[in-house]
Amino acid sequence: MRIKRKNILKIGIVGCGAIGSRIAKAITKDFSSYAKLVALCDIDKNKAEKLKNKLKDKKIGICSLDRLIRLSDLVVESASVGISAQLAEKVISQGKDILVMSTGGLLEREDLLQKARKKNASIYFPSGGICGLDGLKAAAISKIKKITLTTRKPVKSLPDYFSNIKKETLIFKGNACEAVRKFPQNINVAATLSLAGLGAKRTFVRIIASPGIDRNIHEVEIESEAGRIFTRTENVPSPDNPKTSYLASLSAIATLKQIFDAVKIGT
Ligand SMILES: NC(=O)c1ccc[n+]([C@@H]2O[C@H](COP(=O)([O-])OP(=O)(O)OC[C@H]3O[C@@H](n4cnc5c(N)ncnc54)[C@H](O)[C@@H]3O)[C@@H](O)[C@H]2O)c1
Repeated sequence: MRIKRKNILKIGIVGCGAIGSRIAKAITKDFSSYAKLVALCDIDKNKAEKLKNKLKDKKIGICSLDRLIRLSDLVVESASVGISAQLAEKVISQGKDILVMSTGGLLEREDLLQKARKKNASIYFPSGGICGLDGLKAAAISKIKKITLTTRKPVKSLPDYFSNIKKETLIFKGNACEAVRKFPQNINVAATLSLAGLGAKRTFVRIIASPGIDRNIHEVEIESEAGRIFTRTENVPSPDNPKTSYLASLSAIATLKQIFDAVKIGT
């Protein structure tokens, strides 16, 4: 569905954790001339209730996925890689739009991307915790030769079995498919990079456990006919969830802003 700025866009949020809560606040506070938050859904109903209370809007519904989709023009998924593909499929089938944070769930789901195009529904993948997608999208119009993502993570943001690592250690080397399979909650950025560039099988990923850092650091290297791109993003953890980069929430809000604003900057 093409969004017309003159209409008030009805938005539902699935997943009321760190990212969902920030998006909800931005919609109700900053985007109220363009959008209305109509519904919340969370597997843990208390989280949805808590967010609703914070927003102080009694009209926001707390409901099932199906009802949330019925009420919304745009669904925000900020829940989990386990649900993003299934949710996207339901939303797109009704010709509605979806903003997906758990990008890893849609990796190698070209069928869903094609379905969205057929249904004239939009899928938005915010850039999340990385920088460089603007240049990658432009360079992809020519020819991309190689894409490498090197992610350094504080040990505490990795699964518990890495907790006794004492010095910088390469814990994964492979393509984005394998990276997402092994680190589903951690490596959405590899998925987003794959979707924008060469696909998951041809996107090379290194994950390094680094005890000396307190930020997720992502380095993206792109070699293309248009030149070489190198970006490094040192992410401050989100205050509400240290495993999530603050920039990821902000990138979702910036994506919404780009939908609403007549002036669009960047590729
Ligand atoms: N694209 C990116 O660069 C990027 C960056 C950071 C996080 N993420 C992803 O975004 C998602 C949200 O991150 P967060 O930091 O807000 O996580 P969070 O843990 O703070 O919040 C997730 C919320 O979703 C709820 N939830 C989980 N499964 C659900 C389901 N099946 N149905 C409904 N609700 C469900 C949880 O109860 C929780 O309230 C995660 O999947 C995370 O991996 C993506």
